[in-house]
Amino acid sequence: MSSPDPAGSRSTVTEAILLVGGKGTRLRPLTVNTPKPMVPAAGVPFLTHQLARAKAAGVDHVVMATSYLAEVFEPYFGDGSALGLELEYVTEDEPLGTGGAIRNVAPRLRSAADEPVLVFNGDILTGLDIRALVDTHRGSGADVSLHLTRVADPRAFGLVPTDGEGRVTAFLEKPQTPEEIVTDQINAGAYVFTRSVIDSIPADRPVSVERETFPGLLAEGAHLQGMVDSTYWLDLGTPQAFVRGSADLVLGRAPSPAVPGRRGERLVLDGAEVAPDAKLTAGSVVGAGARIGAGAVVEGSTILADATVAPGATVRNSLVGAGAHIGAGTVLDGAVIGDGAIVGEGNELREGVRIWCYARIPDGAVRFSAP
Ligand code: GDD
Ligand code: MG
Repeated sequence: MSSPDPAGSRSTVTEAILLVGGKGTRLRPLTVNTPKPMVPAAGVPFLTHQLARAKAAGVDHVVMATSYLAEVFEPYFGDGSALGLELEYVTEDEPLGTGGAIRNVAPRLRSAADEPVLVFNGDILTGLDIRALVDTHRGSGADVSLHLTRVADPRAFGLVPTDGEGRVTAFLEKPQTPEEIVTDQINAGAYVFTRSVIDSIPADRPVSVERETFPGLLAEGAHLQGMVDSTYWLDLGTPQAFVRGSADLVLGRAPSPAVPGRRGERLVLDGAEVAPDAKLTAGSVVGAGARIGAGAVVEGSTILADATVAPGATVRNSLVGAGAHIGAGTVLDGAVIGDGAIVGEGNELREGVRIWCYARIPDGAVRFSAP
């Protein structure tokens, strides 16, 4: 257990673990070909934003804990030098869960037993002041410190009640009963671990940090400290959240040093073709090689590379996968179109519909209203 540092000088932390091995099930079909952290948000793989923010907070060594589609991370990010980071990759043979993944990368850490190590869930977009979390950790002398945020419906998250000093009193992952909903404070997916605590997680078997490690540490009397703040926070685990997050990055509502271009209503990447009278608004992104036809409206949406939106189509709060095609006059609202899918003309696709990769929807096949 580390000792308190009441002097509280502005803290530095140099190492981080990124948990990027989840299957991204709720994001399918976006995650059929691409692991969740590699799906582009505001024009670059989502993970780029997290890495750039970690770097800006003083991190220089990041270990990525990979599992699902592990092979795509390294070819893209390489040794990390393009981001000014030293990146390492550790792949689990079988998914080890969040706690198992953290433990599994311990041999790559360089921090001493009493030094802080950052851990991030790989699907969180947030304005968290990372240094403030490290300050909280050092100042309180905690074994683990957690970023907490407040949400209206906490059921899909880990609930983390705290006492008057911010000390965590319980950890309730994905509560099932109304009695368990004791707070609106949830685990926001960023932690500072004192290195020795990572080494104490059992090795070589699946461990959930949320269901096993945190409750176990509390039962042993360890000090878990919560830092609640109200900065921008979004878990990009669902298609609607992903589309929202990307738009917020483009609009400048969500902070990231890695957005390729100026903040504004739209981000059009090099090599995209947009008809002069097409309307792109509310943080829309048009990927490289994508084409937006005459009179098309694209609002709060992501059009990935090489996709086409034909003339007169309307795409609202939706994501169109790489190489997909949206037919003339078709309306998408809250839709996800998988890579390479073809949606014919005059369709209307709404409210969370997911069109699978390479599927074909004939002309005029789906409507929510009388034509
Ligand atoms: N390496 C590795 N191996 N990574 C994993 C594994 C695994 O077996 N399982 C999950 N991950 C990674 C995911 O890729 C993701 O970045 C992170 O761990 C969290 O997993 P999710 O599947 O996104 O969990 P969640 O969103 O349901 O819940 C988590 O995040 C919430 C905040 O968004 C929990 O930490 C909750 O307590 C928290 O409130
Ligand atoms: Mg998540």
